[in-house]
Parts: sequence; C-alpha cells; structure tokens
Amino acid sequence: MKTIDDLQVSGQRVFVRADLNVPLDGETITDDGRIRAAVPTITKLLDRGAKVIVASHLGRPKGAPDPRYSLAPVARRLGELLGKPVAFATDTVDDSARATVEGLADGQVALLENLRFNAGETSKDDAERGAFADRLAALADLYVGDGFGAVHRKHASVYDLPARLPHAAGDLIAAELTVLKQLTEDVKRPYAVVLGGAKVSDKLGVIDHLLEKADRILIGGGMAYTFLKAQGHEVGGSLLQEDQVPVVREYLRRAEERGVEFVLPVDVLAAAEFPDLKTKAPANPEVLSADAIPADRQGLDIGPETRKVYAAKLADTATVFWNGPMGVFEHPDYADGTRAVAQALIDSPAFTVVGGGDSAAAVRILGFDESAFGHISTGGGASLEYLEGKTLPGLAALED
Ligand code: 3PG
Repeated sequence: MKTIDDLQVSGQRVFVRADLNVPLDGETITDDGRIRAAVPTITKLLDRGAKVIVASHLGRPKGAPDPRYSLAPVARRLGELLGKPVAFATDTVDDSARATVEGLADGQVALLENLRFNAGETSKDDAERGAFADRLAALADLYVGDGFGAVHRKHASVYDLPARLPHAAGDLIAAELTVLKQLTEDVKRPYAVVLGGAKVSDKLGVIDHLLEKADRILIGGGMAYTFLKAQGHEVGGSLLQEDQVPVVREYLRRAEERGVEFVLPVDVLAAAEFPDLKTKAPANPEVLSADAIPADRQGLDIGPETRKVYAAKLADTATVFWNGPMGVFEHPDYADGTRAVAQALIDSPAFTVVGGGDSAAAVRILGFDESAFGHISTGGGASLEYLEGKTLPGLAALED
C-alpha cells in the first residue's frame, strides 16, 4: 500500500476521501474528533502544494440532497482547524463542484457536499457506482484514501474511485492500521474486550471472532439484555433481540468450552421510561439486580456494583479493546457506566484502544483527555470488521 510520500502531489488535484461523518445537533457539531483526525493528511498535502478536494459522507440521506445532512457546518469547522478558508461546493460532481475545483490554486482546499446526496455513491449496482466514480475521477488527478471509518463500505468514493486514479493511503489510515495490527497479530495477554451499544446483532461477527482471540469479554449497553435473557433472566422492558437469544446462548457455551470469560452486568440502572435526551430532565433511575428486572422497568446503564466488577476485570490486563457505550450516556443520569469503563481503561496499565464512533464520541463528550488512551479509533463498524479479519473494500482498493 503506497502512502502520501510516494505521490508527487505538487500542482496536482488530489481527491481526499475522508470520513467527516460527525454527530450534529441541528447545525452544531457535538463531537469534531473525525474532522480533527482528517487534518494532518490535508495539511501535509497543502504544504506540498496540492490542490486538495476533500469529500465525505454524513449520515444516511437517501441518495438525494437533504439539507439535514449538509456538510456546510463541517466545512466551517474544517476551515477553523486548518486555519485557512475551505471552499465549499454545494454539489459533488455538478456545476458547483467543477467550478470550485477549477478555482483552486496550489495549496488551497475545497470540500464537496455530502457524497450520499448521489444514489451512485452507495448503490449495490456496480455500473451505477462506477458511473458516479467516473464523474468523481474527472475532478482529480490523484486519490488519497483516508476515511478509515468508511473503509468497510463498498461505496463509489471508497472502493471504485481508487481504481480510476493513482492512489495512496493517507496518514490516518496508516496510523489506524498500525494500531489495529497490535490487536490482531501478537496481542499481549491478558486481552480483554469491552463491548456495548444497542444491538447485539451488530456485534455477532466480532464476538464470534473474539471467542478465538480474547481472554475476557465484558458486555454492557443495550446488548447486555440479550445476554442476560440467554442466561435465563427476566429483562423486563429492556432492549432485547429475542431472535438472537439462541445465538448468544451458543456463544456463552463456546466461551465456557474455550475458557474465555464472559462478564455480564450484576446490576443495572433502570426506570419505567426511556430518558428525554433533549431536555435531559432528571430520570431518577433505581438500582436493580440484573437477574430480575420487572416487566415495567427497563435497564438503561450498568449499575454501581457492575462498575466495580468491570474496573477490577480491566485492572490486570495487557491489552483492552473497547467498542460501544455501557448505557444511554447522552443523559447524565445514565453516563456513569460508560464513564467508569473509560476511567478503568485509563487506570489500567494495558495498551488501550477505543474503537467506534459512539464510544470515541462518549470519551470526548464526557470530558476525558484523549491522550490518556493508547488509541482512539475513528472507525466504528470499520474497526470491528477489521478485528473480524474481513477484507475491507476501502483497504483492498488502496493496495497497489
Ligand atoms: C461510521 O460512522 O461508522 C462511518 O462513518 C460509516 O457510516 P455508515 O455506517 O453510515 O456507513
């Protein structure tokens, strides 16, 4: 895989596929981590005299322009972080994009509007994706893949476009791969994995794989209730993927057979209602034992005893990978579980990797110092699929 250093970029139009898919509240960016992560590659290219065309997706619009998913706020923030103006094209391959790119001098940068405003970007049809990639290719001379968070997507700008232009990996992708290799090759033991987030179905592949690799798997978040159910416990009104219960039961059986320790919540914070994330009105949760949640209650965070157990289980590890929050951390009454896991990673002597859009955002939103962790990945699904050992389209496309 070539890097930027292998390209002659001066005077060239360089298309940088970044992942600027940041959380927004209206037009306010609530976590700019992915924009900051994109800056080093862009700066390096600008310093070397390239005309830089940055492109990304944001959210999941339906293949047509949708103002809720405009990258305009991202263009403003990118300009602040770069300390120079970012020309914003209000489309991706049409008049505005062409004129904006034509207007770039060496060392200047533009951001295109959301790639997913075009159906061709995410199309399952190779010809439709290819046709969109052809139009993107016409804008540039060189391609730099640096959107690590999107490399698991077989999308036009990620997979088809590099085949049409001389290409290389950007510094962010190179750095992410260096770290993630430490979790797949010669991992230092004990190796613990903390998995959270809403749905167990999003994590099946990685759990399957980790049963062969990890020494200890700690489960939190909404997915924990499917595990508790598989152990025969009542989970009340908590999030439950009933159809996954047999799959999870099989994982628990395999883990026992292989000597992998599964650690599940012993208590939870619960309430009758899901909290109001807009007003953040007090939710007054109660602490309940995780093995008997009544029908009129739902678990929304791990409880205080579980926080202690998880911290102890992470204290004597050599490597920790964490993906997914432990509860509804966006509400202050349900943030303590996620906060405790973040703190346990910081306190542990282990090499710690925080993977995932949500857990990475949680760490920053809860005010932790990013440098206290070994690495905070910009990839959620991408880092999980990498750990599963899958071939990721956006990485395969960057091979020589
Ligand atoms: C992410 O947030 O994981 C990436 O930006 C990919 O987004 P997607 O899941 O909408 O493809």
